[in-house]
Amino acid sequence: MEICDLKIGICMCGSFCTFKKAIDETKKLKEKGADIQYILSINAAHTDTRFGKASDFRKQLEEISGKEIIDSIYAAEPIGPKKLFDIILVCPCTGNTLAKLNAGIADTPVTLSVKAHLRNGRPVVLAPATNDALAANFKNIGQLMNNKNIYFVPFGQDDFAEKPCSLMSDFSLAEDTIISAMNGRQLQPILLK
Ligand SMILES: Cc1cc2nc3c(=O)[nH]c(=O)nc-3n(C[C@H](O)[C@H](O)[C@H](O)COP(=O)(O)O)c2cc1C
Repeated sequence: MEICDLKIGICMCGSFCTFKKAIDETKKLKEKGADIQYILSINAAHTDTRFGKASDFRKQLEEISGKEIIDSIYAAEPIGPKKLFDIILVCPCTGNTLAKLNAGIADTPVTLSVKAHLRNGRPVVLAPATNDALAANFKNIGQLMNNKNIYFVPFGQDDFAEKPCSLMSDFSLAEDTIISAMNGRQLQPILLK
């Protein structure tokens, strides 16, 4: 199986400092022929920050995918019944969304997309970027890792001196993680130096 064979739902959460990297890497999936659809959490879709304006990001994502962004619970709901994607990538995945996913909460377009997709027994790949990954969210990462159909883009400590509890996935490994996940395997090594 190759990336060009896949319909991929790409969810983005409010880790705004990692947007540029996430966009650069997910754009490559489209360039390699994947059919991609961006799905934004409410915060990702509507918050202007020092890293950029929400309207600019939205425009960029719609240009890359050639599709209107899914940014509401209403628009995300058909993902389950219509089996819209082969795989969902959550990149970046915030601590907030990790906690919700582990708790079974589905109150944003991203968390509902994941829930709707998992009900079809299809794979979800998470790419965490959060500074509480080795603190409040460590248990959520551990429990999610033990769940059927959940995979992780390999991650490491991005700044152990200044942010000792932070983990960041290497987004450039998203494609390899997706292909492995489609074959039912977690890409290894999952822990990066
Ligand atoms: C400028 C800025 C940068 C942020 N960066 C991160 C981040 O890298 N990781 C993270 O987990 N949360 C980060 N947050 C906090 C999340 O946006 C916040 O927890 C939000 O509720 C996430 O909602 P979502 O998971 O539905 O997107 C950041 C917030 C702001 C304003």
